[in-house]
Amino acid sequence: MSSPMLDVRALNKVYAGRGDPVEAIADLSFQVSDGELVCVVGPSGAGKTTLLRCLAGLLPATSGDVALAGEPVTGPPQGMAVVLQEYGRSLFPWMTVAQNVELPLKEKGVARGERSRLVGEALEAVGLADVGRSYPWQLSGGMQQRVAIARAAAYEPQVLLMDEPFAAVDAQTRFELEDLVRALWKGLGVTVVFVTHDIDEAIYLGERVLVLSARPTVLLEDVRVDLGAERDQLETRGAPEFARLRTHVYELVQQAKLGVRSLADARLTHAG
Ligand SMILES: Nc1ncnc2c1ncn2[C@@H]1O[C@H](COP(=O)(O)OP(=O)(O)OP(=O)(O)O)[C@@H](O)[C@H]1O
Ligand SMILES: [Mg+2]
Repeated sequence: MSSPMLDVRALNKVYAGRGDPVEAIADLSFQVSDGELVCVVGPSGAGKTTLLRCLAGLLPATSGDVALAGEPVTGPPQGMAVVLQEYGRSLFPWMTVAQNVELPLKEKGVARGERSRLVGEALEAVGLADVGRSYPWQLSGGMQQRVAIARAAAYEPQVLLMDEPFAAVDAQTRFELEDLVRALWKGLGVTVVFVTHDIDEAIYLGERVLVLSARPTVLLEDVRVDLGAERDQLETRGAPEFARLRTHVYELVQQAKLGVRSLADARLTHAG
């Protein structure tokens, strides 16, 4: 059997700075198959960003392992792209939109002609074909986040990691960007891990939703989302199965906030 795209085994992360050590991740194990779109939800401060940074090789695990396509992740691997919440800080203001998208391709060593083709296609895919020569600060927040997504897509990563990428855009734009992520995911066949605190967003986007406990985090439940391949903002969100999943995940997150750390406890609390 081939290895999963992402394999997380007994991951533990303790921040040991000055002052008391902070255990962010207690013990996480899960796998993500090639081409899956998995969302991660959990209470604020649970350790979601910490998890993403460990997956991305930006933060060393205290113990346990992360592997990408069977290879241990010890630093930022070639095949990964990351989109963060703060697009304002992730784009270089002195570079045009096209130059921003092109930069990682240069670093990857892609030839000039191929670079311009990839940049053109990515900007086209996010609906920004006509602003390549603009500067990021000339664009709205939603457009800047589109540029960040185009940059990740142009890179043609095996795995795309996203940390609350739409937290700072308005609701309407957010819906559009969600559909953009689904479209890119299908088009590129990329594996996506998408962190969000928005339960509806996690269910709308994901094929699975990993629900994390409060810090130090463990996996409360790996929820399968059977909403089909074609999602529609009105129809999907109006479906009975969507409502059922939302109630279920909402209850899990509430339990997590109350300090529940296992499903067995959750049932006890629920019954009592
Ligand atoms: N560099 C750091 N040094 C010490 N503690 C940290 C550091 N970064 C995060 N933490 C702590 O680790 C815990 C998990 O933080 P993390 O940012 O991963 O949570 P999160 O789930 O992403 O939260 P949010 O939903 O608010 O983004 C928090 O208690 C946080 O204070
Ligand atoms: Mg976070």
